[in-house]
Amino acid sequence: VKGGFATFMEKEIHDQPAAVRDTLLGRMSPTGSLQLDELRIDESILRRVDKIVVVACGTAAYAGHVAKYAIEHWCRIPVEVELAHEFRYRDPVVSEKTLVVAITQSGETMDTLMAVRHAREQGAKVLAIVNTHGSTIARESDAVLYTHAGPEVAVASTKAFVAQITATYLLGLYLAQLRGNKYSDEVVTYLDELMKMPDKIAEVIAREDDIKDLAHRMKDVTSVLFLGRHVGFPVALEGALKLKELAYIHAEGFAAGELKHGPIALVEEGQPVFFIVPTPRRPLLHAKVMSNVREVNARGARVLCIAEEGDTAVEEFAADVIRIPETPTLLHPLVSVIPLQIFACALAAEKGLDVDQPRNLAKSVTVE
Ligand code: M6R
Repeated sequence: VKGGFATFMEKEIHDQPAAVRDTLLGRMSPTGSLQLDELRIDESILRRVDKIVVVACGTAAYAGHVAKYAIEHWCRIPVEVELAHEFRYRDPVVSEKTLVVAITQSGETMDTLMAVRHAREQGAKVLAIVNTHGSTIARESDAVLYTHAGPEVAVASTKAFVAQITATYLLGLYLAQLRGNKYSDEVVTYLDELMKMPDKIAEVIAREDDIKDLAHRMKDVTSVLFLGRHVGFPVALEGALKLKELAYIHAEGFAAGELKHGPIALVEEGQPVFFIVPTPRRPLLHAKVMSNVREVNARGARVLCIAEEGDTAVEEFAADVIRIPETPTLLHPLVSVIPLQIFACALAAEKGLDVDQPRNLAKSVTVE
């Protein structure tokens, strides 16, 4: 069942190229356009959508944060991302023109289910991005876009996360194509780039021994910070969550730009700080993160960079650099999250912890 791996989590990390490939499969026509026939919401309704609200919890909510950057860019529709349990207990502004997107691996998360019901009561259409066929949220939503990650057994989400991100890209590109705006001509280019992602993810996984070695060297750390900007920000949040839930280490993710507004006070000699460095082909974005790298390095922190191949700027400041292949900015999370998953899994294993079933956690949280 574990495919020759010691744990389900390791297997599921290695399943990720397939999870992305299978989620893309059969959804593109030979002419390069997208066919999401399963979206049973009338096209005229989708054309009228004036706001998207993503509701989800935990890792699925971070997939929603990535979706916001992509969908707003391609579709010019405002996207809000809200934790399902917060959405439910305030008085959210939703109407018939709002598309609520619920993201969930299990399809049984009670907080997300309650948000779905609440949204539908307000007259919004609900599209669910779900991994588990026939689950409650899949049944109760107006439409379902299934992720094809296969069953995820380990409590910590890995392959479901990359599949969720992939599904939100498909949704964004589909809406852009449907609504036709000045960015809709990017659809074909991005579909092409998306098709390359399974191989790129496999490339990162192939370097797992270096990341395991880093985890071995860091097995006694008690606190780790993760910083990212733009789509690197939700990846930083996910890196911190993985480390907390698997290795029980205090970890925090921040938007890199927020550093000077408070978190930099935490930075002292030897403090490990991971940076998710954007592609140097976005010079402004890259320069901003590099200036944070310099600030943290100047305070004696142990800087660890996840950076593209060929990005030599990081070498002067980083104690370790984990390389990822060149990738368009919006698709970066699919490769930049992989080293963080491997790192958290390896560190937990170093500490002799149960990687598949961390303490106090359930795979699906069916109580509010
Ligand atoms: O089944 P869901 O995707 O709705 O679950 C949502 C969260 O409970 C889940 O992602 C949780 O945060 C994971 N343990 C993260 O690894």
